[in-house]
Amino acid sequence: MCGIVGYIGHRDAYPIIVKGLQRLEYRGYDSAGIALFDGEDIKISKTKGKVEDLKQKAEVANNLTGNLGIGHTRWATHGVPNDVNSHPHYSNSGDLVIIHNGIIENYDTIKKALTKRRYTFESDTDTEVLINLIEEVKKKEGVKLGKAVQIALNEVVGAYAIAVFDRQKPDEIVVAKLGSPLAVGIGENEYFIASDASPFIEFTNNAVYLEDEEMAIIRLGKEIKLRKIKDDAIAYPDVLELKLNLEEIEKGGYDHFMLKEIYEQPRAILDTYRGRLLPDQGLVKMAGLDQHIEKFLNANRIIIVACGTSWHAGLVAEYIFEDLARIPVEVEYASEFRYRNPVITHNDVVIAISQSGETADTLAAIKLAKERDAFVFGVCNVVGSSISRETHAGAYTHAGPEIGVASTKAFTTQITVLTLIALKIAKEKGEFSASKFHEFLTELENIPGKVEKALDSNNIVEEVANVYKDSSNCLYLGRGYNFPVALEGALKLKEISYIHAEGYPAAEMKHGPIALIDDQMPVFVIATKKGHYEKVVSNIQEIKSRKGKIIAIVTEGDETVKSLADHVIEIPETIESLTPLLTTIPLQLLSYHIAVMRNCNVDQPRNLAKSVTVE
Ligand code: G6P
Repeated sequence: MCGIVGYIGHRDAYPIIVKGLQRLEYRGYDSAGIALFDGEDIKISKTKGKVEDLKQKAEVANNLTGNLGIGHTRWATHGVPNDVNSHPHYSNSGDLVIIHNGIIENYDTIKKALTKRRYTFESDTDTEVLINLIEEVKKKEGVKLGKAVQIALNEVVGAYAIAVFDRQKPDEIVVAKLGSPLAVGIGENEYFIASDASPFIEFTNNAVYLEDEEMAIIRLGKEIKLRKIKDDAIAYPDVLELKLNLEEIEKGGYDHFMLKEIYEQPRAILDTYRGRLLPDQGLVKMAGLDQHIEKFLNANRIIIVACGTSWHAGLVAEYIFEDLARIPVEVEYASEFRYRNPVITHNDVVIAISQSGETADTLAAIKLAKERDAFVFGVCNVVGSSISRETHAGAYTHAGPEIGVASTKAFTTQITVLTLIALKIAKEKGEFSASKFHEFLTELENIPGKVEKALDSNNIVEEVANVYKDSSNCLYLGRGYNFPVALEGALKLKEISYIHAEGYPAAEMKHGPIALIDDQMPVFVIATKKGHYEKVVSNIQEIKSRKGKIIAIVTEGDETVKSLADHVIEIPETIESLTPLLTTIPLQLLSYHIAVMRNCNVDQPRNLAKSVTVE
């Protein structure tokens, strides 16, 4: 939540900050702001709205010079989104300026103490409290900015990625991190600061990712210096060479990132299993898993923790692990797991799934599981993310950057990784014959081509979208492996087109949702040939006799459902446990088209953020 960007060097900071903020808008977009410092004057522009609104406002002000700048795109926590609550925030003297991603939980106590010392506050934010605490420490202790930041941060409870500068120090920015991500890009006599590397990737491939409880004093002409916030110990920066390229984070001719990412799925799935899936040798190889295979083989059970779409991937994995590898699985919302005193033993394996690798609740669930002695395995997309570092071992999904807030390719690549893990364990446990194993691997290898074919349904899906775009409610039904896909289809529609939608196991329909069915209710039913086909066909009959509109996702060539449904969307045939990789595609396209037809902001739906780094 919230994106932060900073620059100090020889270039004009303004265009770098603004472009960087646009790339980070997926992290929050209810307000934005920028501060520029030319060594004498500090200019701050901020506004409710998007970075585009900020640009217009700032460019009217017309004095955009400065080689030092910081910027922020906000997802409000404390204080409504308005101009005043937008970051950056000044200290009372006007000398210190801050941007902040996170939450200061004890801000109220600090604010009361500062108010007694005659500090005043313009905004309702916790961030303005923090910058004034830093100012107070600086004055009281007679210390420089870096030290003042460090002392102040030892007094706060919460999460933060901050960047602060001081009018008295035109060549310095101080940054610190706890719980929210922060990367520093290192150029030739210039530094970039950002929530992820996308704002600076065209300038440098070298970056340092701060660890939790680390801070850095970034001074022009000097090497970056890292310190531990708690005890002042020196930390040595691990400079990574990034592989990200510019093309990956641009729209590449598509109208929206979401559509680009939907169409990237054949490639993303292939990249995810490349080098890991070896049908000719009858092998699945995954370094992170191979080293710890005993943990999985001896596991009493697997507990999957995740949020949002990643939780749905976890539900698909529950079917896969239990069906193929015969290990009991529980799938938990990370936010519930972390607060309900779960019973965990050292024989449990916890799998944490997260696209961003930064979701606060998932991170907290991991920490709890580790404290209770479980082995924790991460499935993340973002390389070097907090979750990938916090887990004992893990496997990346190689989906490439996902920028559209509604998750698409992250979901299918997470299922791909989880399938590989289940297959490997099933083989090691002797659950599979060599020929069945080979058949599985070969079919998984065919999936990118089949996803390509599922994408060919786009025109039909667009026609269906046009028919149902004005609906107020929709129902999504699926059974077995496709029950989580129904949940995911409903989530996609809610997220980006603001139509109320519910996903249900098809057989549960008669225990409630059937009461909602009339001739105004579109019901999207996943009715592929494998699995519980006949049962789903019966459910379709039940909907039909109540005049519901039936849109069925079927296996190509299906005639039975075609004769019953109002619309059918065909997908290629595959092994039952791989069907979610195909059935999910038309549902992603459907929500995309409906959102476009309803003039919704597809890539930045209201009130949401891609990466939820607060509770
Ligand atoms: C947010 C995003 C969702 C995502 C969820 C979990 O709500 O909008 O798309 O599924 O967070 O994120 P993660 O990065 O942990 O997968």
